[in-house]
Amino acid sequence: MKLLTILGARPQFIKAATISRAIAEHNQKQSDCLIQEKIVHTGQHFDANMSDVFFEQLDIPRPNHSLGIASLSHGAMTGRMLEAIEGLLLAERPDFVLVYGDTNSTLAGALAATKLNIPIAHVEAGLRSHNLAMPEEINRVLTDRVSDYLFCPTATAVANLQSEGFPFSTSHRQKQQIENVGDVMYDAMLYYQERAKNMVQLSDWGVEEKSYALCTLHRQENTDDPKRLKDILSALRTIAVNICPVLLPLHPRTRKKIDVLKGDSWLESIQILEPVAYLEMQRLEMDANIILTDSGGMQKEAFFHQVPCITLRDETEWTETIDSGWNILAGADSNSIINAIENANAIKKVSIYPYGKGSAGIKIVESLLDL
Ligand code: UD1
Ligand code: UDP
Repeated sequence: MKLLTILGARPQFIKAATISRAIAEHNQKQSDCLIQEKIVHTGQHFDANMSDVFFEQLDIPRPNHSLGIASLSHGAMTGRMLEAIEGLLLAERPDFVLVYGDTNSTLAGALAATKLNIPIAHVEAGLRSHNLAMPEEINRVLTDRVSDYLFCPTATAVANLQSEGFPFSTSHRQKQQIENVGDVMYDAMLYYQERAKNMVQLSDWGVEEKSYALCTLHRQENTDDPKRLKDILSALRTIAVNICPVLLPLHPRTRKKIDVLKGDSWLESIQILEPVAYLEMQRLEMDANIILTDSGGMQKEAFFHQVPCITLRDETEWTETIDSGWNILAGADSNSIINAIENANAIKKVSIYPYGKGSAGIKIVESLLDL
């Protein structure tokens, strides 16, 4: 079976690592139905610390094709990726295309494949923020609609699809196949957490266990609105001055926006880091007092590590993290963020296990082989 994986952005490398590992395990055990995986890297994320470092640290096979398409508007980026991926699909003729999550690389891969009637498997299907102003929501709704196999991370994701009338028919199937397989990022965390504990020292950042706040910030709705960006950074500064050190590995998007706005003074008192690698991030997360983020992946990882999280958005797709009491939606208002810090520990935590048992990768590979 020949599988073409399409990826391009940081969270997709982490998700793909789980599936590539499951494919390698399958191929070691079985010689009669080998899976050949070819990887297309669109180039959407290209700095070494946003891309190469994940391939090295997580043993992801090197991409077979690198498209080098980045730093463009949504339409231009998606359009150029669509054209380039179409050419590759015609040359490679895979049995399946595998896409992850909700980025422009995801949508371009799904559109290219569906126009050529090549079956698509979507990993992390069914997530919804119900906010179509988000580029990610547009990408995931459209990708879900044209995908043949919808691998959902949670029961909520399955219910979201059902409430929208899924399953639909596609060019290949009378009915899309929907399956709750669990979360591939949970698999990754379970697999790498011991390594992160053993190999990464907190002293590298001059902090001690449970004595600091960890923040990441990159969503368009926060970075491209100077008021929201300034309000969030002002809250972080208040926390750094009055409560505990704040570590902020800065996404290149956010760095660029702050540079354009000449907002370097907004970063005063905050410990600014370059983006860190996966093991470093897991270590920083598990020992943080609190995590503040607008990242999808980080909200979940805070829950996996049982660290309280404050989400710097007005809604989230990962509603289970809120239901469990580990996550609070604070938006971008400084006062709401500070209030949330004060409430985070007081909120009653509920033991729930919504993300599977760490076997999402194997389940996806088994399902693809059955199809
Ligand atoms: C993208 C995804 C977002 C995801 C995020 C993960 C879309 C629409 N958005 O957002 O859903 O949460 O990735 O991190 O696909 N840049 C660099 N170096 C890099 C990568 C990006 O300088 O290695 C710069 C680009 O030049 C651009 C900006 O960051 O100016 C934004 O990059 P882009 O890929 O368009 O979107 P992200 O904000 O990274
Ligand atoms: N991450 C990382 N280094 C960083 C920031 C994030 O390794 O400096 C990891 C994080 O642990 C999670 C994933 O990247 O596994 C989340 O990706 P990101 O926040 O870029 O995108 P999102 O999940 O919001 O789409």
